[in-house]
Amino acid sequence: MFDQSKVVGLPISRIDGPLKVTGQARYAAEHFEPGMLFGHVVLATIASGRLIAVDVRGAERVPGVIKIYTHENRPKTAYRDSKWKDAVALPGHPFRPLENDRVLFDGQPVAFVVAETPESARDAAALVHMHYTAELTHTDIVAEQHNSYEPPVARMKQFLPPPPRGDAEQAFAGASYKISADYILSGEHHNPMELFAATVRFEGDGAFTIYDKTQGSQNSRDYVCGVFDLDPDKVIVRNDFVGGAFGQALRPKHHLFFAVMASLDLSRSIKVEMSRREMFYLTWRPSCIQTVSLAADTEGNLEAVLHHAVHATSRHEDYQENVANWSGLAYKCDNVKISYEIVKLDLATPGDMRAPGAATGVNALETAMDELAYEIGIDPLDLRIRNFVHRDQNLDKAITSKALHACYREGAARFGWSERSPAPRSMQEGNDLVGWGMASGIWEAMMSKGEAKVRLSADGKVTVSAAASDIGTGTYTILGQIAAEVFDCAIEAVTVDIGKSDLPKTGVEGGSWTAATTGSAVQTAARAVIKSLLTHAQSMEPSPLADVTDEQVEIAEGRLVLESNHQIGIAIADIMAASGLISIEEHAKVGPDMLAMKKYVSYSHSAVFVEVKVDEQLGIVRVTRVVSAIAGGRILNPKTARSQILGGVVMGIGMALHEESAIDHRTGRIMNHNLAEYHIPAHADIHDVDVIFVEEDDDKASPIGVKGLGEIGIVGVAAAVSNAIFHATGKRIRRLPITIDKILESETAE
Ligand code: MOS
Repeated sequence: MFDQSKVVGLPISRIDGPLKVTGQARYAAEHFEPGMLFGHVVLATIASGRLIAVDVRGAERVPGVIKIYTHENRPKTAYRDSKWKDAVALPGHPFRPLENDRVLFDGQPVAFVVAETPESARDAAALVHMHYTAELTHTDIVAEQHNSYEPPVARMKQFLPPPPRGDAEQAFAGASYKISADYILSGEHHNPMELFAATVRFEGDGAFTIYDKTQGSQNSRDYVCGVFDLDPDKVIVRNDFVGGAFGQALRPKHHLFFAVMASLDLSRSIKVEMSRREMFYLTWRPSCIQTVSLAADTEGNLEAVLHHAVHATSRHEDYQENVANWSGLAYKCDNVKISYEIVKLDLATPGDMRAPGAATGVNALETAMDELAYEIGIDPLDLRIRNFVHRDQNLDKAITSKALHACYREGAARFGWSERSPAPRSMQEGNDLVGWGMASGIWEAMMSKGEAKVRLSADGKVTVSAAASDIGTGTYTILGQIAAEVFDCAIEAVTVDIGKSDLPKTGVEGGSWTAATTGSAVQTAARAVIKSLLTHAQSMEPSPLADVTDEQVEIAEGRLVLESNHQIGIAIADIMAASGLISIEEHAKVGPDMLAMKKYVSYSHSAVFVEVKVDEQLGIVRVTRVVSAIAGGRILNPKTARSQILGGVVMGIGMALHEESAIDHRTGRIMNHNLAEYHIPAHADIHDVDVIFVEEDDDKASPIGVKGLGEIGIVGVAAAVSNAIFHATGKRIRRLPITIDKILESETAE
């Protein structure tokens, strides 16, 4: 933990901000090489079947076309699946572009055109004619749920449902108050601003520099080295700047495969950038059906929780996420039964999308809790407070910290929840029905293994380096703050070097673990620099710091000083000069405290309060106010932290009201693969969003007390919106998104 707070905890603007707003920050598609080629991918127009012929004659006649690749002439690649498995690969067979004549999903890459200009490549791609035999497709989770199965190989053991507790069915049958309902989520598509792209610089002799849009430069490097049998020491992948990703860029995508394949084959530099349409055929948040049954006594004490979830996966991989286990740990209950299955559909493999699993499963639980509150006739917030629990009952472990009461209290006060009139349809403003709803959120506060290097120069300048990514979250800034705090310097004196695969080992940026992981690594390396500085100081004659330990010293105003008396110390420059050094660099490795984690588990928590105004005649819902109160451990930077939560809330509103993968189930094709027909919230959809960070000290979640904020902001938002819509209208709509047609067609509950 930090003893002081001069830089950490301040709302410092992004240190990479000026580069971004002046266009100097280059994204993957913005790098150019002399004489480079351009690639364009041809996408399948069926969802299931076989290619019987590929006609490239017209395409080949387009001026500037260099080569067209299909499954018939694709260069050789690794044979074994293990070589294709990236760091976060799933059980099953990884997708191999142009492997054979089989089409497994709509938009599957089926040919790849390389040309002298992007225009030639695109035009030629449009002239590649595919002849298929199309087969019947199955893409509707509602129709296919009878084919669901328990994943035979678990992606992670914590995704497996906990063993049942008590007898949930019996408790449910005998309870005074109960509800049971099905909740359906249509699939969602990630839509980061930056399109997937890779610019590959061909350097000869097996060497490449690759600018890739990815959440993990080392994951991309290891993937291409595995697939193309390249030497990892000769391949550098860079992702200096990433224009959003939300989980879509955790796993390498086909643009990277094609770019490296063609660069190797043609010995040229090449760029491949996806179209927005192409982005829709990748990883998606899977469609999901859940049944949640809750029962309580007359005072609202939960007596039974049953949660069954089924979500989609592809034909070739078993995608898994933790959808339902949250229901066993969010509230105190002795009778719990959780089950989880997946079902194969003719669609691309789903993938992690902001708070994967929790955004879906907690949404169902929190809508069900709202239904139960009405059933009993108590306030939805009171029902949650009554069932508060400070222990993870699934794992029977203590929770490192859970300042959720403070979220409830401070969120409700800011929102004005006590003014709420309990009955549905009882609040009105002009022509609009007004509804107030709330929900809780939860996300695992994870720390992973990570490394960092920190270098302190004699002139007081600091360099921090790690292969971490900043996917728009503020990683550059918080790492700079952590180093500036330890060395008592201005953040301007710190250079943060991240986003390159040849820097200290770091996992993919995901799961909200980067601040906790790389942040702790930077702090540990910085403390190691101080320790090393002290050793040098103690070799000076005489040394005022001769008899102290590194625990007793710190840096203040450019000097290594005694913590208890800043008068006693030596200037950094003098210590280095005496030892003939110009800088000191230390490398640190960190990981979760496995011993502590035998007893503890760590989560971030939230309470979300939402006001909607509904024009019932037009079916239009406006989310006019949101208060999101977050318990996320130590907040390193309230400004970038707030942006994380704002982004999560906006995405949650999209999930509640707008975002939906519209599939024509007769053909298995995605119909709304563009930003005109797949609506993500625009400015006009977003009104007041207020973020509160409640005080939460946690010395176990991570060495720096951080829990991570990338995901928690979205969890519970869609449920709070849907609960507010019920309060406004008396209409309980259990299939997201809650679009105009559903408001118009739904009946008001009794
Ligand atoms: Mo996150 S969905 O692990 O990028």
